[in-house]
Amino acid sequence: MLSNQAGDGKRTSLHGHWSSRMAFILAVTGSAVGLGNIWKFPYIAGQNGGGAFVLVYLVCVVVIGMPVMMSEILIGRRGRRNPVATMQLLGKEEGSSNKWGWVGGMGVIAGILILSYYSVIAGWTLAYVVKSASGVFVDASAAAVSDQFSGFVGDWRVVALCHTLFMGLSVFVVARGVERGLEQAVRFMVPALLLLMLVLLGYSINSGFFDEGVAFMFTPDFERLTWNSVLAALGQAFFTLSIGMGAIMAYGAYLPEETSIIGASAAVVTADTAIAILAGLAIFPLVFANGLNPADGPGLVFDTLPLAFGQMPGGVFFSTVFFILLSFAAWTSAIGLMEPAVAWIVERFHKTRAQATVAVGLLIWFIGLGSVLSFNVLAEFKFLAGTIFANVDYLTSNIMLPLGGLLITVFAGWVMCRNSTADELRGSGKLYKSWRLLARFIAPIGILLVLFNAVF
Ligand code: PFF
Repeated sequence: MLSNQAGDGKRTSLHGHWSSRMAFILAVTGSAVGLGNIWKFPYIAGQNGGGAFVLVYLVCVVVIGMPVMMSEILIGRRGRRNPVATMQLLGKEEGSSNKWGWVGGMGVIAGILILSYYSVIAGWTLAYVVKSASGVFVDASAAAVSDQFSGFVGDWRVVALCHTLFMGLSVFVVARGVERGLEQAVRFMVPALLLLMLVLLGYSINSGFFDEGVAFMFTPDFERLTWNSVLAALGQAFFTLSIGMGAIMAYGAYLPEETSIIGASAAVVTADTAIAILAGLAIFPLVFANGLNPADGPGLVFDTLPLAFGQMPGGVFFSTVFFILLSFAAWTSAIGLMEPAVAWIVERFHKTRAQATVAVGLLIWFIGLGSVLSFNVLAEFKFLAGTIFANVDYLTSNIMLPLGGLLITVFAGWVMCRNSTADELRGSGKLYKSWRLLARFIAPIGILLVLFNAVF
């Protein structure tokens, strides 16, 4: 095993460190902000009836998402290795067992499975860059925009090509390591994405159906809330914050000692939630203005936003830039999804970063073909949660991430001693006490309750 013990007794990471606190926040934000906010949140909210779902999602983000994220970062920084080795090491160090490594192992698998379909959807956004630039959406009707989408996803060869392209791009960055280029990209991308969401919001406000959109998102109708939609809200909170699978733990391993974990987590959670809510506010009024169905599923964003862009002045430009930014956002998230697997292979098998990345990338690409075919050739091949895509999504977001989050909070709250966590979180004050209360009781009990009720 390679050693990463520094002379002063504090560990250092084998993979380098973030250059500053800001660099870390940007990288974690880059991982959090992605398709989950703009593509997934609106369609899942739509499928689960809006209002009540959104409320449960927000509660999950605050009382479960925040403490899980903080736990992940503090575990990562204390262990300073890949999630598997970190959990093994800390498990032993804290007087428990190295079996905790399995939690990291589940994260490695979850990352691989999530990226397998994430890359397919990211491929759609790449294709929409080209479609937008070609001007097909200019003055197009709702029916024409939705035909564009069904025609596109119906051709598995084009979808497979886009998926391949996106995986290639992801492998390229991850192979090069904890990159400065990434920081620069995120620094520009997140504000630019926010700005374009505001442009869309402006359009939505003028659509005449803004009130309907707001009412759909914020008027809770608890009658429509089932345990399954509560689980979907919990899963979405995990997915959108990139937590429960060790990605943030892997990033935490590269975090300088002096950075405040509480402050960094709060910044990321706020930015991520704001972008999701903005996306919903931009999309739902368009759905109602055009007589579309909010429960339409994964195509929702692709059926609505091009329609709005097609009708605004400068729409070709805005639409092209928007899908470029969304592809970028997906790209910075894909990196986080691969990181646990790559870091694990590098440390465990002494492979170079490039070798590990290519191997992981190929595996993910191959599994992703199942999701490529889920929207065309195998669209009618359904079992359990639906298509192959739906099953991979359900298994990862609704089962593996919450289970990972449960084990991570139990580890940080119960296995790690108070001194260790207080040392990482620098505290004994109110904030530390609130974290400990959430991590020991509220988050694990909440997750168990939802998982249990929804699954049985
Ligand atoms: N949080 C990302 C999104 O909302 O698009 C998805 C994601 C990235 C999940 C990285 C998990 C992860 F490790």
